[in-house]
Amino acid sequence: METIQGLKRTHKCGELRSSHIGSKVTVMGWVHVYRNLGGVIFVDLRDRSGIVQLVFNEENNKEIFDKAFTLRSEYVVAVCGDVVKRGVEATNTKNPTCEVEIIATELRILSKAETPPIYIEEDSNVREEVRLKYRYLDLRRPDMQRIMELRHRVCKLARDYYDENGFLEIETPMLTKSTPEGARDYLVPSRVHPGKFYALPQSPQLYKQLLMLSGMDRYFQIVKCFRDEDLRADRQPEFTQIDLEMSFVNIDDVIEVNEGFIKKIFKEVLNIDVPTPFKRLPYKEAMERFGSDKPDTRFGLELKNISDIVSGCGFKVFSDAVANGGSVRAINCTGGADKLSRRDLDSLVDFVKIYKAKGMAWITVTETEVKSSIAKFLTEDEMNAILERLNAKAGDIIMIVADRDAVVFDALGALRLELAKRFELVDKNTFDLLWVTEFPLLEYDEEENRYVAKHHPFTSPMDEDLEYLHTDPSKVRAKAYDIILNGTELGGGSIRIFNTELQQEMFEVLGFTKEEAWERFGFLMNAFRYGTPPHGGMAYGLDRFVMLLAGRDSIRDVIAFPKVKDASEIMTEAPGNVDEKQLEELYIKSEAHNTEQ
Ligand code: AMO
Repeated sequence: METIQGLKRTHKCGELRSSHIGSKVTVMGWVHVYRNLGGVIFVDLRDRSGIVQLVFNEENNKEIFDKAFTLRSEYVVAVCGDVVKRGVEATNTKNPTCEVEIIATELRILSKAETPPIYIEEDSNVREEVRLKYRYLDLRRPDMQRIMELRHRVCKLARDYYDENGFLEIETPMLTKSTPEGARDYLVPSRVHPGKFYALPQSPQLYKQLLMLSGMDRYFQIVKCFRDEDLRADRQPEFTQIDLEMSFVNIDDVIEVNEGFIKKIFKEVLNIDVPTPFKRLPYKEAMERFGSDKPDTRFGLELKNISDIVSGCGFKVFSDAVANGGSVRAINCTGGADKLSRRDLDSLVDFVKIYKAKGMAWITVTETEVKSSIAKFLTEDEMNAILERLNAKAGDIIMIVADRDAVVFDALGALRLELAKRFELVDKNTFDLLWVTEFPLLEYDEEENRYVAKHHPFTSPMDEDLEYLHTDPSKVRAKAYDIILNGTELGGGSIRIFNTELQQEMFEVLGFTKEEAWERFGFLMNAFRYGTPPHGGMAYGLDRFVMLLAGRDSIRDVIAFPKVKDASEIMTEAPGNVDEKQLEELYIKSEAHNTEQ
């Protein structure tokens, strides 16, 4: 094999333009396309910047022509040559280098390549498992290279923006103690402390609060976080946050700085002006109108509460739901009557059952009649009141779910999204940004039989709700906020508790004994004793942000080496077995390991 000894790359392939005509250049890259037209060989040479055409002419240079004859796709070569104008008939207006080509005067074959198992081309539709097995090849594809560039740009803009606004980038430990973000921890056994474990951080939450106490004033970090939770299209076991914290701030201060950041990203990355300030929607309103705390407000299909109309009706499912403290709510699928067959409706009933709804009633309105699965249980007045509340016209279908509020919101919130997908109600080129505010501080965990923090235990209650902390915890709202982009939770944060007493009270409400709270978070509560500035912050999911900017549906597409659903990495086959000796050093005996051997 040849080397690049004595050669220096003068240009990237995608850089060459008509202004370079007449110059001698050296380019290096991969053989993208190879065409032998008998007597002339054309090669499209590719590097990250783009593609340029090379010409090997038998008449001009027999020796180099014969060498070029041996080239195959994905060979890596270095080529010296003269830039010349390309014939008009050959110009391909899509490629920015289309006005020129390089007449090769020297060719070095640096590395041969076997036929790659996937095509190196834009938007290849190869199965994802194959793409991930050969990720290093998949990343050669131009669309993946653009995404990696985009991700880099977002990180660079984040560093610039937060730096300009007085933030310091400070690293926090990866080997740390468990923090409660609500997921399972990834644990790392300690060799030096037998039987003890570090936890990989679910977020740098406690460290960044301590940095405020240290007087760092404003902190940010682009940081890996680890959560052992069920994976989805927008969840990975290790993901990246743009994490920040600020001293002496209220909610509006955090929101203002971050609206500036998001505005900058949209302008610089997509050249889109997003108007500020963004909408703000209190949690309660988001749930009641959209059935979700991360509403996609790019389309209607809003929920309407009809509990008052049906609380005394003859349909027990409805009246019982209201009597038991739940509700009956509905969506008007406008114009759905013609588009949805009876079988479609049945499939939607099955769909809401995924979300624990026991069923879904429907009312179809036509020019001449009102048909419904529950017509016989409703009086004419009740039926008319429902139609009026839902603003129903001929051609509409009303879909109704009755249950506990949580189930009704979940089911109708998901149904709303499903209908928007089926009827293509969403314009993919619009970006809808909003803050959801006034989250409940706590939510009741039926399984654990206790309150858990909706956000995390360091979030401050709203001052005006503090009085309910012990008497009616479900009533207390938090100084928390989430930023939502097109129905995806892009980030979230809060103003924090900053005194020992309130923090201790919060742990009490969460069911920790005093000892447990001090055992786990004593260092934080101790620290609060030494002069703590009021502080707050937030964290973005960087992967989700890049996914939405790149117009992708999965964060796997914007992570160089992502994991799949069972948290394994297909390419390296991690996680893998380790030597018995390594386990011994860590004082670990693995049943699973033993049976596999
Ligand atoms: P939170 O847990 O809401 O807050 O996380 C912040 C953001 O991180 C992203 N995210 C994820 N992205 C990919 N895969 C995951 N498994 C995953 N989990 C979360 C989401 C989310 O909005 N310490 C607090 C922030 C704060 O209070 O300042 C925190 O971590 O986009």
